[in-house]
Amino acid sequence: MKASRWLCSLWEPRVFNLLVLVLIVTKPVNVAESSPRNYYEGVVGGNVTFYCPVGNPEKLDLLYLQKGQTFINGYHCSNNITGTWPNTIMDLNHTAIHMFGLNLSNAGEYECHFRYLGSKDITSVKLHLMVTAPFGKPSITKTCKDNHNVQEGCYVTCASHNGYPSQKITWKTAHVNSPTWKQPNNSEVLSSPTNKMLNISSTAYINCSSGEVNVSCSVGNITSDVISVCDPPPRTTNNVLVIVAVVIILGISVGIALLCLIMKKRKRGAASATVNDNLSEVVALNGEGMEEAP
Ligand SMILES: *[C@@H]1O[C@H](CO)[C@@H](O)[C@H](O)[C@H]1NC(C)=O
Ligand SMILES: *[C@@H]1O[C@H](CO)[C@@H](O)[C@H](O)[C@H]1NC(C)=O
Ligand SMILES: *[C@@H]1O[C@H](CO)[C@@H](O)[C@H](O)[C@H]1NC(C)=O
Ligand SMILES: *[C@@H]1O[C@H](CO)[C@@H](O)[C@H](O)[C@H]1NC(C)=O
Ligand SMILES: *[C@@H]1O[C@H](CO)[C@@H](O)[C@H](O)[C@H]1NC(C)=O
Ligand SMILES: *[C@@H]1O[C@H](CO)[C@@H](O)[C@H](O)[C@H]1NC(C)=O
Ligand SMILES: *[C@@H]1O[C@H](CO)[C@@H](O)[C@H](O)[C@H]1NC(C)=O
Ligand SMILES: *[C@@H]1O[C@H](CO)[C@@H](O)[C@H](O)[C@H]1NC(C)=O
Ligand SMILES: *[C@@H]1O[C@H](CO)[C@@H](O)[C@H](O)[C@H]1NC(C)=O
Repeated sequence: MKASRWLCSLWEPRVFNLLVLVLIVTKPVNVAESSPRNYYEGVVGGNVTFYCPVGNPEKLDLLYLQKGQTFINGYHCSNNITGTWPNTIMDLNHTAIHMFGLNLSNAGEYECHFRYLGSKDITSVKLHLMVTAPFGKPSITKTCKDNHNVQEGCYVTCASHNGYPSQKITWKTAHVNSPTWKQPNNSEVLSSPTNKMLNISSTAYINCSSGEVNVSCSVGNITSDVISVCDPPPRTTNNVLVIVAVVIILGISVGIALLCLIMKKRKRGAASATVNDNLSEVVALNGEGMEEAP
């Protein structure tokens, strides 16, 4: 670093005003070869680090990153740089620029310009940033049409919010290719007028003529909960079950009551029979006595 300071001071008088350079250099002098490293990906709210392909950072005179005509951040060997984007930091090695808290408008084409001490040539590299916003877990809802407590058909809606770029909603059901499934209608709206994020939704119709169906949907690799549509009407089923249960219980109770009554009657009959036997015995005894008496 000491050597570069010394080199820097040596070249200081020749240094141009950085801002002037930013405005002048619209046609790059030397264009470094484009490579996969020049493509960057970030997510909304995340961070990204741009790397300028500087071969010899020790001999760097100046380096700056711009987007279109907008200065982002940079390094100058003999001046402190001002006017940098608040969400950026120049790395200590002067070749990497960290950007924090990305939003969708940060996406696009950037250029890194740099020059070595003692050189008049500026090398320019295009850096491309893509910013995406992951869609949230899709929600799935149903609205069913009843006809005398029997479900005729259901609209199922799958929705996911605040994503970018747009994605297709895919449906998962055993009925996707059957005539009971009407091809869904898809919609896509800006989640708010001030950003590029999207709310997506898809609405399909299921004819309930073939019974209960399980349905779910996916956005990318995120899948919704599974819901059941065209259920057999629950209220009626319950009522029938309750009525059947009540009838059975009543029947059993009545049966038991009847049995008890019959048993009681039989017991009473048996009891009176023994009394009669005793009586006849008494009579028989008396008879004997009577016979004896005379
Ligand atoms: C972005 O950088 C900040 C500051 O260094 C850090 O706190 C945060 O966790 C980073 N976020 C992600 C998604 O890496
Ligand atoms: C740059 O800033 C540092 C401290 O932030 C200061 O010490 C130094 O003198 C400044 N250099 C120039 C050339 O303004
Ligand atoms: C500069 O710093 C970044 C991050 O700290 C590192 O990945 C990169 O390799 C460094 N570049 C050089 C030329 O040292
Ligand atoms: C996106 O972030 C930049 C700074 O990185 C800021 O100037 C701009 O206002 C932000 N845009 C939105 C739509 O939030
Ligand atoms: C998009 O979805 C978000 C989150 O549910 C909601 O706040 C916003 O109002 C929706 N935007 C539109 C245009 O429907
Ligand atoms: C889709 O929209 C068309 C025209 O508005 C309509 O006829 C059709 O029933 C809709 N389909 C579904 C599944 O909502
Ligand atoms: C549902 O499908 C059956 C035959 O599968 C048809 O008779 C009936 O009209 C359909 N109902 C609706 C509401 O489309
Ligand atoms: C729907 O899913 C539930 C729970 O996984 C399962 O018990 C039921 O048999 C499924 N119904 C149909 C029609 O596939
Ligand atoms: C979905 O895919 C992305 C990238 O393909 C991956 O990073 C993420 O972990 C996956 N999520 C799930 C829930 O599998």
